[in-house]
Amino acid sequence: MDERMITNEKLEEDVLESNIRPRFLKDYIGQTEVKENLDIFIKAAKMREESLDHVLLYGPPGLGKTTLSFIIANELEKDIKTASGPAIEKSGDLAAILSSLEPGDVLFIDEIHRIPRYIEEILYSAMEDFTLEIVVGNDSSSKSIKIDLPPFTLVGATTRAGDLTSPLRDRFGIISKLQYYTIDELTTIVKRTSKVLECDIEEDAAYELARRSRGTPRIANRLFKRVRDYALVIGDGIIDLKITKVALDRLKVDSEGLDDTDYNLLKAIIERFNGGPVGIEAIASSIGEEQTTIEDVYEPYLLQRGFLKRTTRGRIVTRKAYEHLKIPCKENLE
Ligand SMILES: Nc1ncnc2c1ncn2[C@@H]1O[C@H](COP(=O)(O)OP(=O)(O)OP(=O)(O)O)[C@@H](O)[C@H]1O
Ligand SMILES: [Mg+2]
Repeated sequence: MDERMITNEKLEEDVLESNIRPRFLKDYIGQTEVKENLDIFIKAAKMREESLDHVLLYGPPGLGKTTLSFIIANELEKDIKTASGPAIEKSGDLAAILSSLEPGDVLFIDEIHRIPRYIEEILYSAMEDFTLEIVVGNDSSSKSIKIDLPPFTLVGATTRAGDLTSPLRDRFGIISKLQYYTIDELTTIVKRTSKVLECDIEEDAAYELARRSRGTPRIANRLFKRVRDYALVIGDGIIDLKITKVALDRLKVDSEGLDDTDYNLLKAIIERFNGGPVGIEAIASSIGEEQTTIEDVYEPYLLQRGFLKRTTRGRIVTRKAYEHLKIPCKENLE
């Protein structure tokens, strides 16, 4: 198995699962605060017959940013056009998308922190005044022309809010951070997916699966599909607790949702850096992973679950991690 089973990054098979994506706020599980606020802002915008303020959604991969963006458009009863930061290479790319918008439409830009800076500037006037400023002609006789745009709602998604420039960030009226899901919320998501895919799962099995899904719906849905395979091939087709445990153990997802990569990371800090504190660069080169991948993908969950702590002098492994890994730890560790 080359691909990391519990990666929260999007895999090809996830793209096909558009049918398990909730389409309206009422089906979107968890994120209560974000959801309640959006509900009010959307209703208000509709009552005033205005476009919704621009929305920035941020948080770790797989928590439902893209899903929520489509829900926003559905709730507004408007179309959504999508773009992705790294795919916008020329200012003309962005100008073309902007000028295709109809009044009230949603423009979703994924990975918005990766738009090149000189293109990003086009967004400033588009977001603020709904005008598109483009430069025509060549160096010697260039002039800038202004085109009016219809009012629209930009929904930006990012895993790294800190990488956004402040002029861009300041132009979002609604900024929402998505949180890791609770086990109960994930259990509900697993049961919902099981209904959509018409494949029953027993309550305690759904809970076990949720517990090992790193607070992330994308992982919960993926693990559900794999467990379903095990149940079909080596079980009797019924997803109960027993087959779920067998499957998840075989997939090397432990009781806390940690996998080999997490173990490598924690063990590297313990064995090579005496438990830390150690800088992220040193950890990255020690386990041969990109620093940004560690920061965006592996570390947030380890921090959230209290296996790792961030200090001014670097990362340290906690007592909880030593105990979980069954490695004796230094006496004075909290
Ligand atoms: N609140 C939710 N309720 C039910 N299912 C959800 C919820 N949030 C996400 N999902 C499911 O999880 C999957 C991943 O969500 P989504 O693609 O929206 O994540 P994302 O935050 O955009 O990830 P990325 O940062 O990688 O783009 C979706 O296919 C969807 O089915
Ligand atoms: Mg997404």
